[in-house]
Amino acid sequence: MSTRDEEKKLAAEAAAALVEDGMTVGLGTGTTVAFLLPALAARKLKIRCVATSPRTDTAARELGLDVETFATVPHFDMTIDGADQIAPDGWLVKGGGGAHTREKIVAAAADRFVVIADSSKPVDALHSPVPLELLSFGLRATMRLVPPVTLRDVPLSPDGGVIADYEGRVGDPAVLAARLSATPGVVEHGLFPPSMVSVVLVAREGSVERRDIPPVTA
Ligand code: A5P
Repeated sequence: MSTRDEEKKLAAEAAAALVEDGMTVGLGTGTTVAFLLPALAARKLKIRCVATSPRTDTAARELGLDVETFATVPHFDMTIDGADQIAPDGWLVKGGGGAHTREKIVAAAADRFVVIADSSKPVDALHSPVPLELLSFGLRATMRLVPPVTLRDVPLSPDGGVIADYEGRVGDPAVLAARLSATPGVVEHGLFPPSMVSVVLVAREGSVERRDIPPVTA
């Protein structure tokens, strides 16, 4: 196994250890989450899960995890997912696998959102590409509103969205996130604010660093 994969596995196992019997759990998507699923299954807890992608859904079911629909489990005690970039203040970029829309909904529906990552994911400042899901209606018009945007050569999302990437400067992620969210035709973007994140677990050379992100006070 590569060093990166060993780190992903370590972070995933640390997150699996946070899950308790009886919990409802949101399951993210990606190569780090691929290590989470067997670690969770091995604990043989009675938990009810919802998956953020058909990939995760299939893999989790094959491991014997109880995967239900979002309609039957509308709230999670904990959601666990990977990230593409993690800034020092807790801002994330997600969506390298194009699943960020569902991932954001499932993260927002959780009491605690736990991010798991290998040591390549922390960055000093977020940078492009920032994944986008766009409505196919008016696609070219939407792309002109937030240039530069490139389309990914991948299938539509499970919700029929076009997967693309914003390739411009990120700067202040709050400003860019607000701009993208306010753009008609942008279904969702891959900038996740620190207010959504509870814990970041980054594995580095055989150990896991845990960072608790303080809740935002009004
Ligand atoms: C999926 O769309 C993404 O948000 C992933 O969660 C993120 O890209 C991390 O993926 P890896 O664990 O594969 O690095």
